[in-house]
Amino acid sequence: MTKRHCILALDQGTTSSRAILFDEDARPLASAQQEFPQLYPHDGWVEHDPEEIWHSVLSVMRKMLSWAQTHEREVVALGITNQRETTLLWDKTTGKAVYNAIVWQDRRTAKFCASLKEQGHEESIQSRSGLLLDPYFSASKLNWILEHVPNARRRSERGELCFGTVDSFLIWRLTGGRQHLTDATNACRTSLYNIHSEQWDPELLRLFDIPTTVLPDVQGCAAEFGTTDPDLLGREIPILGVAGDQQAASIGQCCFDRGDIKSTYGTGCFVLLNTGDQAIRSRERLLTTIAYRLDGKTQYALEGSIFVAGAAVQWLRDALGIIQSAEETESLAASLQTNLGVYLVPAFTGLGVPYWAPDARGALVGLTRAAGRAAIARAALEAVAYQTQDLFAAMAREGITPATLRVDGGMTANNWLLQFIANILNTEVLRPQITETTALGTAYLAGRQAGVYGNQSEFANTWRCDARFEPGMSALLRNQLMAGWHDAVHRVLAPNQ
Ligand code: G3P
Repeated sequence: MTKRHCILALDQGTTSSRAILFDEDARPLASAQQEFPQLYPHDGWVEHDPEEIWHSVLSVMRKMLSWAQTHEREVVALGITNQRETTLLWDKTTGKAVYNAIVWQDRRTAKFCASLKEQGHEESIQSRSGLLLDPYFSASKLNWILEHVPNARRRSERGELCFGTVDSFLIWRLTGGRQHLTDATNACRTSLYNIHSEQWDPELLRLFDIPTTVLPDVQGCAAEFGTTDPDLLGREIPILGVAGDQQAASIGQCCFDRGDIKSTYGTGCFVLLNTGDQAIRSRERLLTTIAYRLDGKTQYALEGSIFVAGAAVQWLRDALGIIQSAEETESLAASLQTNLGVYLVPAFTGLGVPYWAPDARGALVGLTRAAGRAAIARAALEAVAYQTQDLFAAMAREGITPATLRVDGGMTANNWLLQFIANILNTEVLRPQITETTALGTAYLAGRQAGVYGNQSEFANTWRCDARFEPGMSALLRNQLMAGWHDAVHRVLAPNQ
């Protein structure tokens, strides 16, 4: 009997690694997930142990390969998607990282970025990379490793070390050290890549003091990234798709046309608006980014990045211990008629769009004796909607007012949250049947390259709506709630006023 084909998608996220198998119709067959520890060595620092990432990746991939074997399926391609910006530098000979992965949320380079800003470099950085000057992006993190790890700079200049975002590190490891590659969507988040010329940018490399010897080659999103080392997984699987997780989610949501927009609610929340073949420069401090590059053609997006969404719920569970599981927040929020005037500003790792305040710290305001765990849980969910609205307001000032928003990610299982988002945005919110859109997006890239899936419009026809949330809140209440939120944000941005 000939085995039926399937695609393996690896989603290496901020808090866990997942592997999902998709069938020939891009439907999920099975999945495995493994969390790994978050390291907070100092105030504002966030790191991952590269070996923990690696072991979690191997473990979930092996589980899926064994599932495929038991169910008579042949895995014909692997797609990789990943937490973006997180920065690694590793030894070419041993494959060992010279320092922990510095996570996208890490703020240790805030001062360095501020000094570049004071010297007037932000304009040049934005016009080349599409990004702003913020510790969020990889360049300042890589500079930090080169400056602080003994011999790192000298060894880099001698060509002994490789830099990469997580995709690149995994491709290196999975191919047994044979490929040092990344894709355009990950490259464009480093702040070293020129999104117009589509090359590593000599001026950006000079500003961040990065030697060219450490850089990976940049490919399109559906391309040949090498094959997995048989010693690792028992067989060779071609790696045919790679994209940063937010771009992959946008692909999984079939945002292929100009004006299509999605919002992913994972650790953070990231809104991407497809702007076609135009890289639109934002006046509102949104990011200009590469949405995907397919068949040599690049499509761009405007992005709004919110650093804390699901991470706030995780904080309720792990730091405060007021919930056992994320699902509880739905009934807790619904148990109250109002938010009791309580607002959580989850600036745990600074604030992103539109504030860009790397040193901002979180706050819980408006507490009274009546406010208990339900009010705090509700405030954590409401903050997600308010931040999305801040983003939508920035987009509106750019002249963009989307009629609907496609949402995905773990938090979108929460119906109360999605209804509240629809109310606050005053926009229809659509949840697809497959909410694992990040994995789906990279599975599509790999499957397309393998000839299993068709072109974008064929794939777009497979998108199915699971639930539709219509706005139903008065403008008066909406404005009152947003005013309460902005008052709370103001306290965080100007704490002494
Ligand atoms: O830019 C950071 C982003 O890629 C992280 O995504 O899903 O881990 O929130 P996520």
